[in-house]
Amino acid sequence: MQGMVVVDGAGNGKDASTNNPTTTRPPPKLLRPLLLVAVLATAFLAAVVLLLGAGAGAGMTSPALPNLDALRRPAACARNEDKEASSASGLRRWTRAPASAWHNMSDEELLWAASWRPSVRRYPYRRVPKVAFMFLTRGPLPLAPLWEGFFAGAGSRDHFSVYVHATPGYRPNFPPTSVFYRRQVPSQVTRWGDPSMCDAERRLLANALLEPGNERFVLLSETCVPLFAFPVAYTYLTRSRHSFVGAFDDPGPHGRGRYRPALAPEVRRSQWRKGAQWFELDRALAVDVVADARYYPKFREHCRPPCYVDEHYLPTVLSVEAPDRIANRSVTWVDWSRGGAHPATFGAADVDEAFLKRLTSSAAADGEQRSGKERPCTYNGQPAEVCYLFARKFAPSALEPLLKLAPKMLGYGGGSTRNNSAAKRIG
Ligand SMILES: *[C@@H]1O[C@H](CO)[C@@H](O)[C@H](O)[C@H]1NC(C)=O
Ligand SMILES: *[C@@H]1O[C@H](CO)[C@@H](O)[C@H](O)[C@H]1NC(C)=O
Ligand SMILES: *[C@@H]1O[C@H](CO)[C@@H](O)[C@H](O)[C@H]1NC(C)=O
Repeated sequence: MQGMVVVDGAGNGKDASTNNPTTTRPPPKLLRPLLLVAVLATAFLAAVVLLLGAGAGAGMTSPALPNLDALRRPAACARNEDKEASSASGLRRWTRAPASAWHNMSDEELLWAASWRPSVRRYPYRRVPKVAFMFLTRGPLPLAPLWEGFFAGAGSRDHFSVYVHATPGYRPNFPPTSVFYRRQVPSQVTRWGDPSMCDAERRLLANALLEPGNERFVLLSETCVPLFAFPVAYTYLTRSRHSFVGAFDDPGPHGRGRYRPALAPEVRRSQWRKGAQWFELDRALAVDVVADARYYPKFREHCRPPCYVDEHYLPTVLSVEAPDRIANRSVTWVDWSRGGAHPATFGAADVDEAFLKRLTSSAAADGEQRSGKERPCTYNGQPAEVCYLFARKFAPSALEPLLKLAPKMLGYGGGSTRNNSAAKRIG
């Protein structure tokens, strides 16, 4: 509410000083109301700047007050200032992507910086939404050549960005031409089944949020492969009304059995949900997740093995807070049919045309549904032909057959940018 009022006040003030012709030759009678408006607007904005500074500045040494000087300048200068501020160079200050993914912020600083969002909904510039591909890895990316072929299908770097979370100290060796070059983010030690896993997911999300162009955020691992050409995945994600987070109610010991009463009253046992950790979120939900101070600290403290934060936190919290904004399913295919604590891993011997055909066809979706874990696959409320954009888990040995079959079976790679119908629908 406060934000709305503030925005309106600022907008009116600016319009009055730039568009009203009376400001150039002000008749005395009009001068006083104008001055009053100017003074009020200035006071309003100054108060806002100070409030924001005070609210956010508890741990900060010197909150920046970049606009205060401009507000104090006499009205005669206002027109030039406005022109400058509304030019691309002025706005770029807010819209520019950081040059490298690296920075020296602490997690606390990072999550705070990532939690900003504009209150004005309409972007005052042509914003091309990007998909952020966030790789949660131990270090090496053995399937990187496959991903390079996938991203080559994007034509340019305008539609995606890449982030890599690896073991601290890991030094990747990608050439400057690679999409992975300098895309590593500051990382912490991450253990499977431990809350540090979920910390890493939020850290990746926060790093990707620092780029204002990023609109969709996909979490991937080093064993993931793309199942379609870039334009298909891009269109699928950017046109979806839902975020792809798996969420289902499992009454058994591996579902509700992992609920912890200490999570009440925020989460009741009946609200407990489970889902794969490989999420896809839109920007609004991503900001909610990095800013969450209500649920996450409790999950982190009380959800300890055999309760796994990364399998329950997002499915549960988003089912409580935003049930209509998630698809209750993942876009990442995985095979649990062999049983056990880990899904199947596919190597060179598994990858052939028939296998890839199964993954990319609707049959893959049907098979998954029969396991009873997922609801029937829909997309924007309609039965969907394509349920999965990515698949896991693939061993390094799968790289060679995948590289060979990708141009024919998956629509990317092979050194040429593909020309499919989905590509034409972009832009
Ligand atoms: C980050 O780097 C800046 C200079 O580039 C330095 O002033 C600041 O103290 C550093 N912060 C941390 C937390 O290391
Ligand atoms: C996901 O599940 C919730 C119930 O938790 C439901 O309200 C919502 O409509 C479902 N989303 C879709 C896309 O079906
Ligand atoms: C791409 O599409 C255009 C027009 O649809 C066509 O003329 C061209 O031959 C296609 N290129 C390839 C490599 O398929």
